[in-house]
Amino acid sequence: MHNSSRKCVQLALLSGILLVALCYFWKPSSKEVDISSSQVTPIKKFFTGKIGDATNGYKDISYHIKEEMASHLAQNACVCQADEETFHLPLSNLLFPHVWAHNLDQAFLELHPDPESVKQHRADEYNNLQERSYNPADVLNVAEANSPLQYPTQGVLVRPLKTIIIPGKGIFNMQKNIETHFDVAAKVDMVSIQGVGEKNMVLSSPLLSALNKQLQFVTYTNIVFHPKTADTIQFATKDHQSFFTIKIEHRNNPKLYNSGYQKEYNITALVTIATKTFLRYDKLKDLIDSIRKYYPTVTIVIADDNEHPQPVTGPHIEHYIMPFGKGWFAGRNLAVSQVITKYVLWVDDDFIFTANTKLEKMVDILEKTTLDLVGGAVREVTGYTATYRHTISVEDGGNEGDCLHIRLGYHHAIKGFPNCVVADAVINFFMARTVKVQQVGFDPRLARQAHLEFFIDALGHLHIGSCSDVIVSHASKIILPWSKTDVQKAYEKFRYSSSATNAKTHNEIFYFKNRFKCMTSQ
Ligand SMILES: *[C@@H]1O[C@H](CO)[C@@H](O)[C@H](O)[C@H]1NC(C)=O
Repeated sequence: MHNSSRKCVQLALLSGILLVALCYFWKPSSKEVDISSSQVTPIKKFFTGKIGDATNGYKDISYHIKEEMASHLAQNACVCQADEETFHLPLSNLLFPHVWAHNLDQAFLELHPDPESVKQHRADEYNNLQERSYNPADVLNVAEANSPLQYPTQGVLVRPLKTIIIPGKGIFNMQKNIETHFDVAAKVDMVSIQGVGEKNMVLSSPLLSALNKQLQFVTYTNIVFHPKTADTIQFATKDHQSFFTIKIEHRNNPKLYNSGYQKEYNITALVTIATKTFLRYDKLKDLIDSIRKYYPTVTIVIADDNEHPQPVTGPHIEHYIMPFGKGWFAGRNLAVSQVITKYVLWVDDDFIFTANTKLEKMVDILEKTTLDLVGGAVREVTGYTATYRHTISVEDGGNEGDCLHIRLGYHHAIKGFPNCVVADAVINFFMARTVKVQQVGFDPRLARQAHLEFFIDALGHLHIGSCSDVIVSHASKIILPWSKTDVQKAYEKFRYSSSATNAKTHNEIFYFKNRFKCMTSQ
């Protein structure tokens, strides 16, 4: 009786743990979703807690470290060391180029007035990047032994030409596909090993615990350089076998922006405003004047492909003249390529900043969530305010190509930001992480009317939001034809004419570049 009730408790406890685990990974769909970049931490802890140190366990089994192997293992402790110059001859450096080393933290921090704050700032930016780019599918996970085999199911990663200890033990026989060495970083007594440094390694021992201890020291070395691939490892006993993969990858070097330590968001340090102008210098001037009212020192980058460019001058203005008529996306590309701040704000040249154009709100949501790009709202002279939110999906269509579906609407609201939602495409007034927008780029062939094309290229690369409470005004668009100036008429002729060529380019881009056979839209 006593015993069975205890089992019950154990069961209940176990299912409690299972439930907690389920809650981590499976949340019932609700209208509001938490996308803050720090919400990944509990999941990460759950994984790391499960794995622990690779060589824990079987503490009473003795072993002898193999120095030549152990010294190859990644230690997370690189040192900045130059070759010692052994001899000096004329031209010796040409014949035997020696390795020099440059101590960056010393060189940079020494001259900095506040080295501690830079270090802290860099650490914060890096943490934030890691939290935003965290993916549970990359995390090391081990299928714990319920068959005799215990092995990693995912997340084993080796840098090209480097050696790792294979985590998650219970491996008795291995084979490999691409060039690899198996070896051991330490030798355990009473275990015999065949095939050290080869493709197949067989371990045997009369003592199971010794075997398991030995398995904790099995290493894997990648010996042919071919990053962005993976190796499939088979491991087996006589009666059981299983497979897992080891990814061979370089680390991605981060691109962090040094915006300086700040208590409150410093828009000048964080944001560059980018625009493209064509014929409408009067509109551009109004835009710049309105920006200066609220953000007197923020940098404005202007791409200009007018036939007869006029000077646009003033403090914190960069005016880039392009060949005549290069077009809309070419201009966006050029402007965005020149941005050196963490964020870029895209505006059209006929927008007007008002007291409602609060860039701090856009910075805030980009800093606190995993969003890469956030759109605002554009108020027309009629008083109508547009956010232009769309969802985009692509459906497989076989050999003929795929189907693109664009719909009005959004995916879900964002917890903590009541005026914001997540969508796939937003209005042409948006703030984005500069590096992310540069990665997607704007197809320069789209010379006249284009907007959603960028978001189609961004699908799967950018996490996109839209906030209705950051509002820019649109200078009058609806003008009666008889009151149009010559410049307006020329602008419209250029932008909306040659629509046949325009349509042909669009069709080609969708059909060929994006491999669509069909597009449906609202
Ligand atoms: C904001 O950043 C700019 C540019 O980095 C800098 O010149 C200015 O002093 C900063 N303002 C404040 C209040 O820190």
